[in-house]
Amino acid sequence: IGGEESLEENYKCWLQYKSINNKDLIQYYHYYCSQLLSRTNSKIIDSAINELQTGITEMIGNKVDLKNNFGEKSGIILSTAKDIDLAISDYNINNSIFSKLNDEGFLIKTINSSKYESGILIVGKTDKGVLYGTFCLLHLIQKNEPIDDLEIYDQPENKLRMINQWDNIDGTIERGYSGKSIFFKNNEFIKDKQRLIDYARLLASIGINAISINNVNVWDVETKLITKEYLYEVQKVVSLFRTYGIKTFLSVNYASPITLGELETADPLDEDVQNWWQLKVSEIYNTIPDFGGFIVKADSEGRPGPFSYNRNHAEGANMLAKALKKYDGILIWRCFVYNHLQDWRDRKTDRARAAYDNFISLDGHFENNVILQVKNGPMDFQVREPVSPLIGAMKETNQMLELQITQEYTGQQIDVCYLIPQWKEILNFETYSNGEGSQVKNIINGINNNKQGGIAAVSNIGADDNWTGNGLAQANLYGYGRLLWNPDLSTDMITTEWINLTFGNDGDINKQVKYILLKSWQTYENYTAPLGVGWMVNPHHHYGPNIDGYEYSAWGTYHFADRQGIGVDRTEETGTGFTSQYFQPNKRVYESLHECPDELLLFFHHVPYSHILHSGKTVIQHIYDTHFKGVDQVEEFIRRWSTLEGKINNINFSN
Ligand code: GCU
Repeated sequence: IGGEESLEENYKCWLQYKSINNKDLIQYYHYYCSQLLSRTNSKIIDSAINELQTGITEMIGNKVDLKNNFGEKSGIILSTAKDIDLAISDYNINNSIFSKLNDEGFLIKTINSSKYESGILIVGKTDKGVLYGTFCLLHLIQKNEPIDDLEIYDQPENKLRMINQWDNIDGTIERGYSGKSIFFKNNEFIKDKQRLIDYARLLASIGINAISINNVNVWDVETKLITKEYLYEVQKVVSLFRTYGIKTFLSVNYASPITLGELETADPLDEDVQNWWQLKVSEIYNTIPDFGGFIVKADSEGRPGPFSYNRNHAEGANMLAKALKKYDGILIWRCFVYNHLQDWRDRKTDRARAAYDNFISLDGHFENNVILQVKNGPMDFQVREPVSPLIGAMKETNQMLELQITQEYTGQQIDVCYLIPQWKEILNFETYSNGEGSQVKNIINGINNNKQGGIAAVSNIGADDNWTGNGLAQANLYGYGRLLWNPDLSTDMITTEWINLTFGNDGDINKQVKYILLKSWQTYENYTAPLGVGWMVNPHHHYGPNIDGYEYSAWGTYHFADRQGIGVDRTEETGTGFTSQYFQPNKRVYESLHECPDELLLFFHHVPYSHILHSGKTVIQHIYDTHFKGVDQVEEFIRRWSTLEGKINNINFSN
């Protein structure tokens, strides 16, 4: 299913703007959407205008005129709050709701006024809000929904809503499964920027407001992105994303002063190093005044960091943060720090403990423009892990969550694995860090506690025609943005939205694609690594299956299976003590062999194969059955997908 004729549609993802066939519906939308005016002048609003003109013209076949006034007719009115008088009684705005919206919030209201311009009002707290409101209106029309009585107040629930590209400047992508980079090629920025504009449109349409454009592993050439050689090119990318309300960040090499041959040390307490970074940051901001800031992977998997100078992570991060602060820049410091040179015979060292052990004592020591970026689990984006106990444990420190959209350990976009259900579980996880109500979503958003915060995820896009290699993986990017906007949106709703926007409103497509997507995470877990055991993958490229692929290696990713039993004893009583990093009652639940949920059993406990699960099955029977069940489920997916032959022509099932 797919083919040449569908390339263009694959490329458009959920911004299809398919032409509407029903004449009455066209007339109905035409009434409200044939003209538009903007009360605010800004580049971001220009993007909104462009999008409306493109989208509406494609959907209803009529050109949308930009006007200074509407005369008798109706149209779409764009404005920021400060450029419109919302007190006009004809508008009947609920100001008590609107005034409480945050800076990126918006309202959309259908107005029938005799005195003033009538039609559809899209008012943002700022111009970004106008852009988000615009996409919201376009989505309604894409779904053929009524617009004659709209009154929508909406806002994003996370401050930083970020994408991390793991692109290298030679054009490769670390853990990329969708072709080459759309940013770089052969150690240069790609000149033709159309692809980036289209990416910015896709990201803005789901509310993403920040992006880091290069891999967190910053190699020698990428280190030069912050030098004259590349800064001008960086600036072009920043300007482009800026017009879609997206701030651009760079990953930087902690040892930049050394790698660039300018100093002999990168010690954060060395005055020359501090001055070097201050000058560097001034140079960047003189070129790019609204540059977002840096993201740093330090002392992790061989990358340089403050440990080389006997300094801790706070000393390391603060040095950079102080340089950035003057310009309102943010320093994102990753907590993915562990010993990757472990001896598998040493059962006390536990990689799962590492992030917490490295950071917890530094709580309160970080500058207020530092955000610690914590991976969702204590290991590394496995199909199933408990939530990292570090989240919520550092009460005096800004934290954000890191997820992985690219399917490194979840099928590499060869297998379908829809991750929204996994992310919902993570976001809803009750940490009890501040008693009840301390779910991950409430800790990291930066909004509830008036701090910096949010969510970042590793991108799954590349230069493939359909962006994500496997077309169904587009749903992960879409759903990611929607969840960041509002973690309380249901999986069902997000999934239906994506299907409708991508394939149109066909009942069969909705039913079958939804079935496949919603079951796919569980299915992938079934045929790969059930019971929280993790890591049944081949070394290096991480596509499975390989039971002992990492078992005797230095990476600290063991299952300790032998003929007696399987799993890692992470209890306080007899194991590595990892369970003690959780707040009660989570600690008690994970510590107890009987209370520990089945799906995480082997993450926390080493048990004989004959151990009986809550399900009533033995561990070995469960492993055996789930693998067969997984295969059956995949066969069912194929059967259901085939029933759509002839209906779906706009998505390649795989690359
Ligand atoms: C994983 C991944 C690496 C990546 C690392 C990180 O280990 O396999 O490619 O660099 O995560 O998040 O830094």
